[in-house]
Amino acid sequence: MEKLSSEQLMQMEERHGAHNYHPLPVVLERGEGVYVWDVEGKKYYDFLSAYSAVNQGHCHPKIVGAMTEQANKLTLTSRAFFNDSLGVYEQFVTDYFGFDKVLPMNTGAEAVETAIKLCRKWAYEVKGIEENEAQLIVCKNNFHGRTTTIISFSNDQDARKNFGPYTDGFIKIDYDNLDELENALKQDNVAGFMLEPIQGEAGVYVPSEGYLAKAKALCEQYGVLFIADEVQTGIARTGKLLAVDHENVKPDVLILGKALSGGAYPVSAVLANDSIMNVIKPGQHGSTFGGNPVAARVAIAALEVIRDEKLAENAERLGELFRAEVQKLVDKYDLLNLVRGKGLLNAVVINDTEDSSTAWDICMKLRDNGMLAKPTHGNIIRFAPPLVMNEEQLLDCVSIIDKTLAEF
Ligand SMILES: Cc1ncc(COP(=O)(O)O)c(C=O)c1O
Repeated sequence: MEKLSSEQLMQMEERHGAHNYHPLPVVLERGEGVYVWDVEGKKYYDFLSAYSAVNQGHCHPKIVGAMTEQANKLTLTSRAFFNDSLGVYEQFVTDYFGFDKVLPMNTGAEAVETAIKLCRKWAYEVKGIEENEAQLIVCKNNFHGRTTTIISFSNDQDARKNFGPYTDGFIKIDYDNLDELENALKQDNVAGFMLEPIQGEAGVYVPSEGYLAKAKALCEQYGVLFIADEVQTGIARTGKLLAVDHENVKPDVLILGKALSGGAYPVSAVLANDSIMNVIKPGQHGSTFGGNPVAARVAIAALEVIRDEKLAENAERLGELFRAEVQKLVDKYDLLNLVRGKGLLNAVVINDTEDSSTAWDICMKLRDNGMLAKPTHGNIIRFAPPLVMNEEQLLDCVSIIDKTLAEF
């Protein structure tokens, strides 16, 4: 077969694919651990990890092994029948995270939709809110996915504009603001409060210390479900298994995706205890692929890798080192305003306007220097390498960032 160049492959996407993304111009062919290679053979550090899906590193042999072994045996039964993997996974994942039950889905957005539906049903059938009146509190500048309901409570004009009419039932408050939360909780018919423990897409906004614990306590006080969307922050990314673990918070509803499969396969999940999850009865929610045997085996392997390789501990340690080293660059270059984050979910804020192209231009130069990262919004660059990185590699990356900034 003729080998296509990067240029040819990008042109094919430009011509035949919908233009719903604006990728950095690099065409990847292969990945292993913290590295990816483009079709011309150039090697890069991956500092995005597919938006924190590839926490366990590219093509982790244990995860790929579990996937191919199961794919050769049985891939999909639908939930019309039982299969010999789902129950094993359900027991494993509920023990792992400490909940009674799991509802398996595929993508992050589907899991968020599932959590919203679960919360509403609980509101009507357990809390006693009148039908169709339930309200969910959400935060401004959130990112929870792309479905019609989810974009209904987004602030991002690109995500929202001309996709209406929107879904009702959401109260938007400022992130990291407990007074606003309490005022919203006092309103009628509030069923849940859904948030990202760190706002990832918004630019890695870490809330004030104590915010999550106090928000959870307020939700308990008002009899409202605390729903943590850990699709991006979960599974060791921030230096603990879950970002809520930094404040010892146990959510009522936990949403997971991305690294639940180590990036090998779309696997997402909603976890909750029986008092909440038991409101869902046969026929009321589901997905043809949700809980399929490949997903089940992949997720078990992905979670075992996190535990066996102590990736949360590694993320915590390397995260401290990364921020300390990048802080030196912030002090050295006027171009950088600050570095922030937790574990290996970090961002730098560029000293330029939000609509400038500087962050993009820096990412292009980083690419030329062998490191792949992307701006979140405007003038913010997120740095989120696979958690299997070692100290030497991390310091090598810091020197790439240093060299790149020196070229500006
Ligand atoms: C916090 C959060 N929730 C949900 C999603 C949506 O996940 P998916 O793209 O798999 O639908 C994302 C994706 O970036 C996310 O960061």
